[in-house]
Amino acid sequence: MSNFVNAATSSSASEAIESTVGMDFVLENWGDYDYPLACRVIRDTDAKILYPVMKRSAKHLKGYIGWAKYAPSWDFKTVQQFVKDHANDEWPRFHLIFSIGKQVVGFGSLAPVGNSRDVQVALWVALGHQGRGIGSWIVTVLEWYAFHVFGFDHVYYQHDSSNRASGSLPPKLGFEFSHTFDQKEKDGTKETGFWYSWKKSKPADIPPGFIDTGDISRWQEVTFPWVSLV
Ligand SMILES: CC(C)(COP(=O)(O)OP(=O)(O)OC[C@H]1O[C@@H](n2cnc3c(N)ncnc32)[C@H](O)[C@@H]1OP(=O)(O)O)[C@@H](O)C(=O)NCCC(=O)NCCS
Repeated sequence: MSNFVNAATSSSASEAIESTVGMDFVLENWGDYDYPLACRVIRDTDAKILYPVMKRSAKHLKGYIGWAKYAPSWDFKTVQQFVKDHANDEWPRFHLIFSIGKQVVGFGSLAPVGNSRDVQVALWVALGHQGRGIGSWIVTVLEWYAFHVFGFDHVYYQHDSSNRASGSLPPKLGFEFSHTFDQKEKDGTKETGFWYSWKKSKPADIPPGFIDTGDISRWQEVTFPWVSLV
C-alpha cells in the first residue's frame, strides 16, 4: 500500500492530500483492488451508477442509513430524484461519490450541524467493500474539503451509540469526543436514539477558506491525485 493510503490512518492524512494536490503524483491501487480509490462531486446524471449500488447495499445499510430502509420499493425514477436533490443541494450540503475503477464503493457528505461555521460528515460504504479502510478515507477527504476548501472551524462526526463500526472511525482519525445527545427521530432500523458526537478543529496553519473569502476559484482549477472512472 502506498504512503498516501497509509496516511489515512495518521493525523496528517489531510496534509497528505494537500501536498499532492496539483502535483504529478501517481496513486497506487487501493489495497487488493486493481485501481486506486478515487472520488468526485455528485452530478445530477448519477442515478445510473448509484441505483444499482444503493439497491444492492440497502439491506446492509438500513440499520443506520435512513434512505436504505425505503430502497426495496424504490424504482429508477425515485433514485433519479434522490440524486437530483443531492446534486442541487443547498450549501453547506456537499456530496462525493467514491469509486475504485468502475465500481462505486462509497458515498460521503458534508451537512449542517447547527452552527454556520461548523459542519458534519456523513458516509456509507457499499456492500462488499466495508472494513478495507474506505470509510476512513471518505472521512479524511471530507475533512480536507471542510478545512482547506470551505474553511469551516470544526468538523463533527456523529453516530448512534450502537453503531460500533462507525464509532471506531473518529478516535482513529484524530477526532476528540465532544458530547452525547438524544435524537428523537430514528432514521436507521438499529438506531437507539442516543448519539455520540466527535469534533476536530481546523489546524491554525490552514488559510481562510470559502466561508471567509467567498472565493472558490483556487479549488476549481486544482488537479487531485485521483481520477474518477465513473
Ligand atoms: C461505518 C462505515 C462507513 C465504515 O466504513 P468502512 O469502510 O468499513 O471503514 P474502515 O474500513 O475505514 O474502518 C472500519 C472499522 O470499523 C471496525 N468495525 C467494523 N465492524 C465493527 C464492529 N461491529 N464493532 C467494532 N468495530 C467494528 C473495523 O475493525 C475497522 O476498524 P480498524 O480499521 O481499526 O480495524 C461502514 O461500516 C458503513 O457504511 N456502515 C453502514 C452505514 C453507516 O453506519 N454509516 C455511518 C453513519 S454514522
